[in-house]
Amino acid sequence: MSFIEFNNVKKVYKTGEVEVEAVKGVNFSIEKGELVIIVGASGAGKTTILNMLGGMDSVTDGEIKMNDSIISNYNRKQLINYRREDVGFVFQFYNLVQNLTTKENVELASQIVSKPLDEVEVLKQVGLTERMNNFPAQLSGGEQQRVAIARAIAKNPQLLLCDEPTGALDFKTGKNILKLLQDTSRIQGKTVVIITHNAAFEEIGDRVIRINSGTVVDEHTNSNPASAEGLVW
Ligand SMILES: Nc1ncnc2c1ncn2[C@@H]1O[C@H](COP(=O)(O)OP(=O)(O)OP(=O)(O)O)[C@@H](O)[C@H]1O
Ligand SMILES: [Mg+2]
Repeated sequence: MSFIEFNNVKKVYKTGEVEVEAVKGVNFSIEKGELVIIVGASGAGKTTILNMLGGMDSVTDGEIKMNDSIISNYNRKQLINYRREDVGFVFQFYNLVQNLTTKENVELASQIVSKPLDEVEVLKQVGLTERMNNFPAQLSGGEQQRVAIARAIAKNPQLLLCDEPTGALDFKTGKNILKLLQDTSRIQGKTVVIITHNAAFEEIGDRVIRINSGTVVDEHTNSNPASAEGLVW
């Protein structure tokens, strides 16, 4: 059994009379510690898949498993606990609290979980020791994304879910963020899922899942993934 399994997962959004089949019976698995790249065009269903995996959206049909638990059957209370303890989220536009400093943004997350990592240590890992007392508006986009990643890592989750984490960043800064995420998987053994529309990212994944119109069109593993440092796009 794999760490994470999607078994025939479907998602239909209903808006009035209109139904959109965003995810059409998807199957894939993820092993613990992998860096996973989920790639596909705009509207393919990537965010929908990530939101269901992160317990932020329900499935219409099928099941999602992590370890021995069926996440897709969790009740409201179990979902709150799952999102809090097991999942770290990283978004395209960082979602930091503007009137809290770097350190306070990270503390905000670590305070709510049972086994947090030391904030100062995590901020050191992401290279923000010198920016601990700055507010988000005083940081560059790349630095703000590092704060967001530190915030997610400090919760010490089983799973890090990143939706277009480099989408708002220039090439060089984006590459540094990918390297940080790759190191988080390689050095700390965390399972990291990155969503992107950029097929160039496929090279760095231990596992690649290609999505098109709500279906998985390809799933493969890279036995020797490229280092994020050398990536070109
Ligand atoms: N809350 C919602 N209500 C109705 N339709 C939705 C909702 N969320 C997503 N959809 C639809 O589901 C499909 C998949 O959307 P999704 O956001 O998962 O795509 P995506 O691959 O993340 O795209 P992008 O790269 O643009 O972020 C799209 O057709 C979208 O319009
Ligand atoms: Mg999306």
